[in-house]
Amino acid sequence: MSVGYKAIQWNRQKIIYDVILLAAVALYIVSFMTIAQNLGSDLDLRGVRIRAYGSAAFLLLHVILSIGPLSRLSPQFYPLLFNRRHMGVTMFFLALIHVVGLNLPFFPWNFHGALTWYHDFGNLDPLISLFVGNSHYGDFILFPFEILGAIALFILFLMAATSHDFWLANLTAPVWKALHMGVYLAYGLLVGHVVLGALQTNKHPFLTITVLVGMLWILGLHLVAGYREFQKDRPILKPNEEGFVDVGTASEIPESRAKIVAIAGERVAVFKYDGKISAISNVCQHQNGPLGEGKIVDGCVTCPWHGYQYLPDCGASPPPFHERIPTFDVKVMGDRIFVRSTPNPPGTRTEPAIAT
Ligand code: HEM
Ligand code: FES
Repeated sequence: MSVGYKAIQWNRQKIIYDVILLAAVALYIVSFMTIAQNLGSDLDLRGVRIRAYGSAAFLLLHVILSIGPLSRLSPQFYPLLFNRRHMGVTMFFLALIHVVGLNLPFFPWNFHGALTWYHDFGNLDPLISLFVGNSHYGDFILFPFEILGAIALFILFLMAATSHDFWLANLTAPVWKALHMGVYLAYGLLVGHVVLGALQTNKHPFLTITVLVGMLWILGLHLVAGYREFQKDRPILKPNEEGFVDVGTASEIPESRAKIVAIAGERVAVFKYDGKISAISNVCQHQNGPLGEGKIVDGCVTCPWHGYQYLPDCGASPPPFHERIPTFDVKVMGDRIFVRSTPNPPGTRTEPAIAT
């Protein structure tokens, strides 16, 4: 649920995002082809184009996988996160062009993709040839690396096709999130596709080394971000005999903002607004965004990632939306805020405390 949820919600920010994304992709492809041809590559132009689009898709996948952990490390990366799904769809189309090529009317740079070029010379249909043409499954060097690419492409297709919030709402958030975790499986398959493909067709180790550096980057970033998140949950706040936890003072919290605390293993966002204090789960229903890093806009807690909104006293999205998150009872004693350690069921209204 965002401020103005519509089927297609183009706004200036999204258009700028997409223009920059497409310009960067075009620049990459032109640069790749210029450099590959000037380096006297032994591939013909078709081979260079197939590689340009394949590597653009693979590089974009690295960017997509980096945005999540980078955003956990610094809010400066939130603008990239906002439309990450547009990157995912762009990546799928680049991969598809790598496989099936381009055949647009009046377009001067049409070409055959990997499937129609490498598998089009025999008697078999290229798609059948892809699966039966190479049966060296037990051989590391001759392994049919294209099959790995085909499975990855199928996963990328599923994710691109279900990327809209319509599918998030209809598949339910847990199913949608599980499906989109498939991006890591696709990444693993593509590492195999590229490394084994490089071993078969490239004699120099540049590509293999680049892929390994990319893997270390992705792995390192996830480990660092994971460690930082773990550290944030470290201070264990103990409840008093009434089951409330002392989370600090109201003066620590800026107006219309929150303080995030970890209570009984769950992150809670304690908001101060209009002289009141309310506590809700820190986890956005959309894609687990950190609500406590957002602010109150038009009386609603607004997620910093994609703008879903929740009423601070009841954890429910304003009508006509249906998202619900758990709330926590709050009281203020002296200058200290106390939050009950057990959550209320999602969407339960609880009286805000008066900030002193
Ligand atoms: C049916 C699916 C696929 C087929 C048949 C296929 C086929 C190929 C072939 C034949 C090559 C070697 C090209 C050459 O040496 O000239 C290659 C390389 C490559 N593929 Fe794929 N591919 C598929 C899917 C994908 C996907 C989904 C991606 C990325 C998202 C991808 C990324 C790459 C990359 C990065 C390279 C190495 C490019 C380079 O050498 O610079 N491929 N693929
Ligand atoms: S709006 Fe997308 S994670 Fe909160």
